[in-house]
Amino acid sequence: MDDRLKVLFLCTGNSCRSQMAEGWARHLKADVVEPYSAGVETHGLDPLAVRVMAEAGVDISHHRSKNVSELMDVPFDVVVTVCGAAHESCPMFPGDARVVHVGFDDPPKLAEAAKDEEEALGCYRRVRDEIRAFVEALPDSLTQPDRPNGGQGVERDEAIRRSVRDAYGKRARDNRSCIEHTCCGEETTADSFAAALGYGEDEFAELPEGANLGLSCGNPTAVASLRPGETVLDLGSGGGFDVFIAARKVGAAGRSIGVDMTPDMVEKARANAKSFKGATGLSNVDFRLGEIEHLPVADSSVDVVISNCVLNLSPDKHQVWREIARVLKPGGRAAISDLALLRPLPKAVRKSVRALVGCIAGAALVDDMREMVRAAGLVDAVFESSSRYTDRLAEGDDELFAEISQKLPPGTQPSDFVTSLNVTAKKADTVTGV
Ligand SMILES: C[S@@+](CC[C@H](N)C(=O)[O-])C[C@H]1O[C@@H](n2cnc3c(N)ncnc32)[C@H](O)[C@@H]1O
Repeated sequence: MDDRLKVLFLCTGNSCRSQMAEGWARHLKADVVEPYSAGVETHGLDPLAVRVMAEAGVDISHHRSKNVSELMDVPFDVVVTVCGAAHESCPMFPGDARVVHVGFDDPPKLAEAAKDEEEALGCYRRVRDEIRAFVEALPDSLTQPDRPNGGQGVERDEAIRRSVRDAYGKRARDNRSCIEHTCCGEETTADSFAAALGYGEDEFAELPEGANLGLSCGNPTAVASLRPGETVLDLGSGGGFDVFIAARKVGAAGRSIGVDMTPDMVEKARANAKSFKGATGLSNVDFRLGEIEHLPVADSSVDVVISNCVLNLSPDKHQVWREIARVLKPGGRAAISDLALLRPLPKAVRKSVRALVGCIAGAALVDDMREMVRAAGLVDAVFESSSRYTDRLAEGDDELFAEISQKLPPGTQPSDFVTSLNVTAKKADTVTGV
């Protein structure tokens, strides 16, 4: 019996990204994955996709562009939508197929601005390599245990991601350098807010304008003790704030990678990377579009995972911690800053979309976070709570804080429920076991 995972990679025209994913899966994972690809339309094979895959030793020239309707009888375990259009118009699949969205950039679109064919091929190669990293991590990154509420959970997760993506997409396009709820016209700028979180003056130097969008609630690079030559991965990198700070610390011999699921954020961060290179001469940063629950990053390839105010936005935090453990090298470490709960929030706050995208309603209880880190197999975990962030918001007449306060039991305030938390942990070294 063939017990391989049946995976369908779905895209708009089944011409490029889904074909590359199918090609990589056949090449790298044929023992555990039975791969298919299709489009919600058919556009024929993209010759540049065929070319860059051939360069990497994978022949997809015999593939055919297929419409998903041809495959509706296949009992897929997982459907991976690899572009936004497929994600929006993904049909219903019979059976128990889980639908996972892992949006990769569209190479033909990226290549529109290319000066010549070589530059266009560079765009295709970048996406090819990002897809390879994602496929290399299969099937672990797709086979999470079912949530108690089954299919509804998947839909709920998607609804959460959509709200988060919409809110942060707008935020990236707005281009304000002030904090979300209080300012624009007032005195609290993103930089002064970050200074209150412990960022130093020198860290703002050579930072591209707009990299700090005032969305942080901690300072992970301060606790990560980064060293020259290390590879750092920032989960939910936004405009690239911590990625650029980390890039200077790890230097030209290191790498600083950001992953974010909001296309406008990734676009903004990539534009920022160009001015960062101009100012510092460093080209050691890389921004990838993807979900932190399915990181487009190879196993055991990262020295340090950092994140700043993002895990609370994930509908599946257990999976994020498993992904952190997967991508870390043995002995590698995590330094995660986030908001967490000291006690459960009342339902009226938990149900508020504004409180969700404002990083509060989705926060985990500190004890649950402890359990997730343990269950992911990380060791030496240290949890440090601080009221710096909540104090600062309370001082600044934050609108969201005021709205949340009204929904709390009389006599309580947001800081009785919410705290900022630094979590450090490491992946056991395979040699020493600690
Ligand atoms: C509060 S902002 C923090 C941005 C950045 N870390 C900073 O400190 O400036 C949250 C970011 O995480 C991204 N994000 C939220 N949930 C995500 C997920 N499940 N996968 C990938 N990115 C996510 C959002 O698109 C947004 O850019």
